[in-house]
Amino acid sequence: MNADSTSPAQKIILDCDPGHDDAIAMLLAHGNPNLELLAVTTVAGNQTLEKVTTNARAVARVAGITDIPFAAGASRPLVGPQLIPDEIHGDSGLDGPQLPEPSVPLEEIHAVNLIAQVISENEPGSVVIIPTGSLTNIALFARMYPQLVERVGGITLMGGGHHTGNMTPASEFNILADPEAAAIVFEESWPVTMVGLDVTHQVLAVPERMEQLKAIGTDVAQFIAELVEFFGASYMKERNYPGPPMHDPLAVAAVADPSILRTVHAPIYVETQGQHARGQTIVDFRRTWSNNDPSGLGVTDDPDFEAPNTAVAVDVDAEKFWDLLVDALTRIGNTNF
Ligand code: BDR
Ligand code: CA
Repeated sequence: MNADSTSPAQKIILDCDPGHDDAIAMLLAHGNPNLELLAVTTVAGNQTLEKVTTNARAVARVAGITDIPFAAGASRPLVGPQLIPDEIHGDSGLDGPQLPEPSVPLEEIHAVNLIAQVISENEPGSVVIIPTGSLTNIALFARMYPQLVERVGGITLMGGGHHTGNMTPASEFNILADPEAAAIVFEESWPVTMVGLDVTHQVLAVPERMEQLKAIGTDVAQFIAELVEFFGASYMKERNYPGPPMHDPLAVAAVADPSILRTVHAPIYVETQGQHARGQTIVDFRRTWSNNDPSGLGVTDDPDFEAPNTAVAVDVDAEKFWDLLVDALTRIGNTNF
């Protein structure tokens, strides 16, 4: 949505695999006035590429998104086996609510080429990519268009974590789904912010939060309530959580309002081997750097130390996050999808 304040909206590309929380992330990206959603690209993850792409376009209709390009990307990870978490997102990838027929067209070009097009057409540094699925498209983009890497304003991704996993004790789904791609993304020169499980597990859509969203009283809020009902039941059954984590919306929220997260700059490595640790994101807290918060973990004050271009989210202002989501949904209103 267009900014109604004096500062221009941050331009973003959402690279996603809807997925319940991806769907909410897209609604937030559309409804937040500090963001301008330029394109949506899809990657296989929560379900097959075909299913997540149809879902993304159906969610566009729910949101009332009509005028931006949608393109499908990678249908398989670069190297490893394809993982599909249907115990969490169901057979469609977006089980729960009745989905409308998509109305936005699907571009004929590959997602990676669409990303390149959008990055080329906009001012260097002006577009942030928000990946909320596995990183296959983004790694392919870096390899196919190395000359465009420095034009990307940043990558704020949902994935990984520094103290726990969800697929294995060490690994989070988006990273384990394509660890080789993730390794490429973290090794590139662009600024990367990792919004991992350490913070997304602090924004659970518990029943009281859902009451707050439902009170908005629109058809879109009702759609989210139905998504969360299914997603929450999965999390209760599989993990015994009181509410499903708002993983992907938190990455979008962090771009809309960076003060929602406390981040620490530190080198981040992706384990691509390992008997128990494939897909783990390893944050080197021995060498951290926090420009705005001297209480950051293990911060150095060595003036010769160069801040790494990767940062990890270590804390979240959950109240601010929920306010942002409620505000975005209120702005979207009824779409009569
Ligand atoms: C991530 O995995 C997916 O199932 C969710 O959509 C989210 O992006 C959480 O681990
Ligand atoms: Ca996702």
